[in-house]
Amino acid sequence: MLSNIFRFLLLLPGIYWTYLVFFSNLGADPAKILNHKAGEVALYYILLNLLIGFLIGIKFRIPGGLRFLLQNRRYLGVLSFVVLIFHVFLYFAMESFESQAIEQILTKNYLIAGSLAFLILAALAITSNNFSVRRLKIKVWKRLHRFVYLASFLFSIHILLIEKADLVKYGIVLGFLWVLQVSRFIFTIWPKKETSE
Ligand code: HEM
Repeated sequence: MLSNIFRFLLLLPGIYWTYLVFFSNLGADPAKILNHKAGEVALYYILLNLLIGFLIGIKFRIPGGLRFLLQNRRYLGVLSFVVLIFHVFLYFAMESFESQAIEQILTKNYLIAGSLAFLILAALAITSNNFSVRRLKIKVWKRLHRFVYLASFLFSIHILLIEKADLVKYGIVLGFLWVLQVSRFIFTIWPKKETSE
């Protein structure tokens, strides 16, 4: 039951955006407004997933009532990637699907960083299924999924390079994200390396 409510809540932004598109006035550049909203929501979903991963990593005993968070991690990961696809699609819509959109991706630093992060997250989303885990063997799969650190670094750059973005808000969100990432590294990955040396 809680699991279904959680899944539904995660779909609410999408439902709200659909409502905005059909029943509200999104101003002169609706693609831009929705692009910003999608980028922000994708970031929060990635952050929530990293938070759950952190709690698992430090072997925190998640209370029974919150177990649905563990059961829905894959759903959350795939959904954040779907929202990112929407974010990128809206970028192309903002550029009227013209070739300059590609030129900018190859030349503007914030878009280069965002696109590299997107490609890494695409690889992680594609391999987030039981078949891939079996094929790659768990050790290789875990190593591959550590690229999430690189992706986090790249999308942090993407966001911080956007001049008009709310840097106080995103500074706090990304600061929290990096405290989580560094703590996770210190608590989980580092001790294992020391014992295997
Ligand atoms: C992991 C990948 C990415 C994440 C987490 C992400 C997230 C974000 C966030 C949070 C914003 C700020 C929204 C705001 O102003 O409130 C943003 C803006 C933007 N992103 Fe991304 N993004 C990613 C990848 C991409 C990619 C691949 C593209 C295009 C190819 C892209 C294009 C844009 C554009 C055009 C803006 C608005 C820039 C402006 O207003 O000047 N993003 N993104």
